[in-house]
Parts: sequence; structure tokens; C-alpha cells
Amino acid sequence: MNGNGRTPLIVGNWKMNKTTGQAVVLAQDIANLHYRDYKTVETVLCPPFVDLKSVNGVLEYDRSALRLGAQDVFWEISGAYTGAISPEMLREVGCSYCIVGHSERRAYFGETDADVNRKVHALLRAGIVPIICVGEGLELRDAGDRQAESFILEQVEAALEGLNDRDVSTIVIAYEPIWAIGTGRTATPEQAQAVSVAIRACLGERCGWENARKLRILYGGSLKPENVALFVPMPDIDGGLIGGASLDARAFIDLMKAWL
Ligand code: 13P
Repeated sequence: MNGNGRTPLIVGNWKMNKTTGQAVVLAQDIANLHYRDYKTVETVLCPPFVDLKSVNGVLEYDRSALRLGAQDVFWEISGAYTGAISPEMLREVGCSYCIVGHSERRAYFGETDADVNRKVHALLRAGIVPIICVGEGLELRDAGDRQAESFILEQVEAALEGLNDRDVSTIVIAYEPIWAIGTGRTATPEQAQAVSVAIRACLGERCGWENARKLRILYGGSLKPENVALFVPMPDIDGGLIGGASLDARAFIDLMKAWL
């Protein structure tokens, strides 16, 4: 737990990388470097759908404390939705987390705030923790902090519509400025902290400070072992959502260890 009573969370988003054979090797490499005493940080691997079962097998065989997550979900329970995956399917394959609303899903697959909201409700019904991604593009950031923040808060409010106050305290929000994803350019720790404070304040007003204090907010966007130490001391940033560096077992574990 950090000084605020929240357990830091490190999530590796493998995106569309790793065939099943490669995924097993990477999961094994990460599990080998992840010791049982690393229990002050929660660590989650999010491989592609087709790799979930095999990666879960590695984690179970290893009795690893690493957790499994998916990168997306559909909101219906079952039915004629070709190509879609339900929350129940994710739960049965061992997922306890699921990323929703990643900017790449929004940009390439047309995912809307309303879709994200439906997915969040469906995941909570299935007992899976949603990791809701929000973040502004470069144009909005250049327009000024206030514009960027109000866009982000609209995304947060839309994602949480209809949730009760206690549910809100169990979810995770990941602030990922689009201009920082895969670019090698992070937000400054101060920018990320300011956005996290704004999100927490907005949720405090919406569902009570007690609940808002419990919710974890992650930063994502070009996090690497070389820059993570700047983000760790930020009091409202509770961990990281990591893309590129999560594909390297050593780098991913080093990032996680920064939060121990
Ligand atoms: P990078 O760490 O590669 O910038 O990706 C961040 C991200 O999109 C994680 O979801």
C-alpha cells in the first residue's frame, strides 16, 4: 500500500503482440522474475484474447501472484455477436481485470463513451475490474490544461454513468495522453498528477470522498524503467499502464519494482 492506503497497480498491455507460443515464453520470463515478496504491488498481464488461456496456465502452474487481464470485452452476455468476447468468457479463463476505452480502440474501432459505459457495467456484473482509459490528444493539450482536463473529465463521467458510489471505488482509471503513447515522450509527472487530482476531485463530488480516495488512478504513455522514478512520488498516481516496455520481462519487472 502507498501512503494513501491504495495498493499500487502495474498493468502490462501487450496490445496486438505475441502469438501464443511467444506469449507463453514472455509470461514465463516475467513470472520467473516476479517473486512472492513483491506483494505490495499488484501486477497484471494483459495479453491478446487468444493467449489468455495459455498465459493463465503459466501463472497457475507457477502459483504466481501475477494477475490476468484482457484488453477489451463486449457488453452482452452471449448471442449473435460475431467476433465478440463476453465478460463471462473472460472470467472463466482467469481474468480479474479488463482494459476498456483504450485510445487505440476509440481511434481504430470507433469505440464511443457510451460503449465504454456499457462495457464497464457488464464487467462489474461479472466481477471483473474495469481499467478505464481516458486521455486527450495533442491538439487539446496544446489548447491548454483547462481544455484538456475538461475533456478528460467528460470521458470519466460518461464511462461511469449509472454506477453506484461503491462500484466507483473498485474501478481503475488510467490516464493516457494520446500524444504520449508509444512516442517516447511522457506527460510531465506534474501534468499527470494534476490530471489525477482533477479526476479524483470530480469523483469525490460525484460519489463521496471516501469512495474517491479508494479508487486507483494509473498513468500510461511511454513509461520506462528510466523515467518511472519521476512518477512514483506523485501522491495521486497509483501505478502505471505500460505498453512497449511490458513486452520486455526485465524492463516490466524493473518498472514494477519502482513501486514496491
Ligand atoms: P507505451 O507504454 O508503449 O507508450 O503504451 C502505453 C499504452 O498505450 C498502454 O496502454
